[in-house]
Amino acid sequence: MSKILTTESGAPIADNQNSASAGEYGPLLIQDQQLLEKLARFNRERIPERVVHARGSGAYGYFEVTDEVSQFTRANFLASVGKRTEVFLRFSTVAGNLGSSDAVRDPRGFALKFYTEEGNYDLVGNNTPVFFIKDPIKFPDFIHSQKRDPFTGVQEADNVWDFWAHSPASTHQITWLFGDRGIPASYRHMNGYGSHTYQWVNEAGEAFWVKYHFKTNQGIRSLDGDQSAEVLGADADSHQRDLHQAIERGVFPSWTLYVQLMPVAEAADYRFNPFDLTKVWPHSDYPLQKVGRLVLNKNPENVFADVEQSAFSPNNFVPGIGASPDKMLQGRLFAYADAQRYRLGVNHTLLAVNAPKATEANNYGRDGLSAVNKSGRGKNYEPNSYDGPAQTDNALSAPVALNGHTGTYTTPAHTKDDDFFQAGELFRLMSAGEQERLINNIAGFLAQVTRDDIVEKNLAHFHAADENYGRRLEAAVAKLRAGDEG
Ligand code: HEM
Repeated sequence: MSKILTTESGAPIADNQNSASAGEYGPLLIQDQQLLEKLARFNRERIPERVVHARGSGAYGYFEVTDEVSQFTRANFLASVGKRTEVFLRFSTVAGNLGSSDAVRDPRGFALKFYTEEGNYDLVGNNTPVFFIKDPIKFPDFIHSQKRDPFTGVQEADNVWDFWAHSPASTHQITWLFGDRGIPASYRHMNGYGSHTYQWVNEAGEAFWVKYHFKTNQGIRSLDGDQSAEVLGADADSHQRDLHQAIERGVFPSWTLYVQLMPVAEAADYRFNPFDLTKVWPHSDYPLQKVGRLVLNKNPENVFADVEQSAFSPNNFVPGIGASPDKMLQGRLFAYADAQRYRLGVNHTLLAVNAPKATEANNYGRDGLSAVNKSGRGKNYEPNSYDGPAQTDNALSAPVALNGHTGTYTTPAHTKDDDFFQAGELFRLMSAGEQERLINNIAGFLAQVTRDDIVEKNLAHFHAADENYGRRLEAAVAKLRAGDEG
């Protein structure tokens, strides 16, 4: 016989099919602990879903250094060629709820946890190198405008485009999202980006600004609008199924990590703000340098335990890696752990998927809901005279020079800092066919907007990016809107 079925407190259960009743016909007895506990437990199975990126898939694997980068960072997990570090990666869509579908046009999350010997390093990125906005104070409004309208209960084109009408810096990311890469065929067939600029610091204390690029070794594969409609109709879980099955078959997806590195001294005079999340650094300015290989080779044993309860925070750094002044990143340094204290509780860092694996967490944080495994021995204050865990002088990152006065600013004054030129550059890089599809994709959505002023404000952004882009989009929208009226 296999194990005996028990209650939560370990007592054997004699009948798991029939409730205990007062006589053959009922009513039921409140002394039936198995019935009460089973129903109560079931009522508590769901936890709040993530406020964004609610729908996702995850897997374990490893990162292996293939190229020497220790001259740029003293991060221990990047110290030598051949060094391997265990990782957990969670992919996600952004706007949809937990029960939504995979094959939609939406950015994809690419959240990576490195279980290093110096603590967990979380790199919480997307499959896009840029983002829609550049100030975190706009994030809740942005997300509200993209999610379901509180009155109609569906996503409204008016809200989506009204937000973008007031956020011209979105034009670059919109061009990316409605282009050919906007609907990945699977999580395996897309790149991942750290997106923000981060800081690397070497042994000598010399700092560099760094951007991360994970290039898929499966090749980029995407769906067009018709293909995605077909997949969505047939299988809401297409990305989850693909990832899980590939790993079960032993076909392990992998990515090659490259970085772009900017010496700190070059940031001030760069032609645009290098900490602006709505812009990329052209590879001609800062070429890609290879770092290593990321491989996913193990499915989680339990999706809820490891994927739903995983918690990534852009503020989880290790020595040798730090934040940049990117305002969006600065906002995110607060937002994630705060969300997780609400979503999972203050002790979420003790869950297996979130706890350090290659080292242990030692501090004087205590108690709270669902506290486990914190020994009561030793002192609960620091410093102490009893050989308790003490601080070291291993500072995580290098100091960043400041200038200016406190205040609320729009865009720092770099010589070429308008919101549109990189959207224009991206448009001009596209083949004729991709330009055509991009315009049709945007027009199909923008034409659903009911207010002329919102349409016009948005069209002005595309005109500013590239005159040809704006003119063709304007014609396509006009045609669709005329068709709607007819
Ligand atoms: C200031 C802007 C942003 C704010 C305030 C914000 C906030 C959040 C919050 C609260 C969560 C849910 C966390 C949780 O419950 O565990 C989340 C998830 C996520 N965000 Fe952001 N976010 C911002 C921008 C970004 C950007 C720019 C990226 C990518 C470059 C990004 C990538 C992600 C990813 C990948 C997840 C899902 C992580 C996971 O798989 O658990 N976010 N964000």
